Amino acid sequence: MRKKKITGVVGARPNFMKMAPLIEALRPFSERIQFQLVHTGQHYDERLSGLMFKQLELPEPDHYLNVGSGSHAQQTARVMIAFEEYCLEEKPDLVLLVGDVNSTLACSLTASKMHIPVAHVEAGLRSFDRKMPEEINRIVTDSLADLLFTTCREADQNLLKEGIPEEKIHFVGNVMIDSLKKFLPKARSPKALTHLNGAPEFGVLTLHRPGNVDDDQILKALIELFIEISENMPLIFPCHPRTADRMRAMGFQFDEPLDENAVRLNGSNLWMTAPLGYLEFIYLLDKARIVFTDSGGIQEEVTVLGTACLTLRDNTERGITIDEGTNLLVGRDPAVIRESFHRVLSNGPCHPRIPEKWDGGTSVEIARILMDWLDGCEK
Ligand code: UD1
Repeated sequence: MRKKKITGVVGARPNFMKMAPLIEALRPFSERIQFQLVHTGQHYDERLSGLMFKQLELPEPDHYLNVGSGSHAQQTARVMIAFEEYCLEEKPDLVLLVGDVNSTLACSLTASKMHIPVAHVEAGLRSFDRKMPEEINRIVTDSLADLLFTTCREADQNLLKEGIPEEKIHFVGNVMIDSLKKFLPKARSPKALTHLNGAPEFGVLTLHRPGNVDDDQILKALIELFIEISENMPLIFPCHPRTADRMRAMGFQFDEPLDENAVRLNGSNLWMTAPLGYLEFIYLLDKARIVFTDSGGIQEEVTVLGTACLTLRDNTERGITIDEGTNLLVGRDPAVIRESFHRVLSNGPCHPRIPEKWDGGTSVEIARILMDWLDGCEK
């Protein structure tokens, strides 16, 4: 019998820690399936991609589509064109997609139109904010997918409300947490911490969402606020290239090029670094007193690590991290963020609940369901 071919696709940094455990969980079935990894090249920097591949022990991609940066339409279109060529040549039996980045959207559209079944891991998350590009990517991908793997019961409900048949939905838990559990014992103290001279507590800041960094006034107000907060507690700020570009254009001065050594911003206790490796970053998340972020996945990681988190957005598609975890939505108003920071510090340690099935076994469950599904297709 011909081996079935499963093609996993990654494009951007938040995909890598989701795909790594899936590849590992599918490996025991290598007599029945052939797995191929496609990297679209949406993220191409060594720090956003190469380093993550190494640390997450991901195999070299079988195909690299080399699409690079561009507007949403350009990037999505380039992935679609290149992925269509890949599919024509390689004829996958199933395309396995994770998350909500432009590469996820592009590959779900391409595969569906070629009648290739699509499995979507991390389905059903909704911020109900269509100004976020990721929300559009999630809605379209979920409407096309044949198998939808969810991280929480709320996601199942979102999908059912959108008319997705129940039999396509599988509540399995969170593959990001599979990676977190596997790699936390190997997490590494980043060089940046040595700059803090043994400060007893520190915070972590990440900022990259267009809503926070593309508007000069918003970004300036946020950076000035974090410089002020850093006088209370030193902050480490691994800076996404798009944010660093915006800051440079606005006249903020920091030593270039950014690397893993931290540099002070304007002489303050806000220490900027280049994007860190996965192992260094989860170390920071685990040891930090507080995390300020506009990322999606970080809200989930801090929930499991029990680290306080202030999310710099007006909404989140990951409500479970607020209901059960350590997360609070604080928007981008400096007064609200400042007040929430002081409240978190005076509240003492967090006592999160670990959400149902966020136990490190999600990818194994997904692999089993995928294999059963492929067997079913054969009959
Ligand atoms: C993408 C995802 C976002 C995810 C984020 C994690 C979409 C719509 N967005 O956003 O959901 O949270 O990744 O980082 O898919 N750049 C580099 N080097 C790279 C890649 C990008 O310098 O390797 C710079 C370029 O200036 C580029 C900008 O970052 O224009 C934005 O990159 P892009 O992939 O379009 O989106 P992200 O903001 O990274």
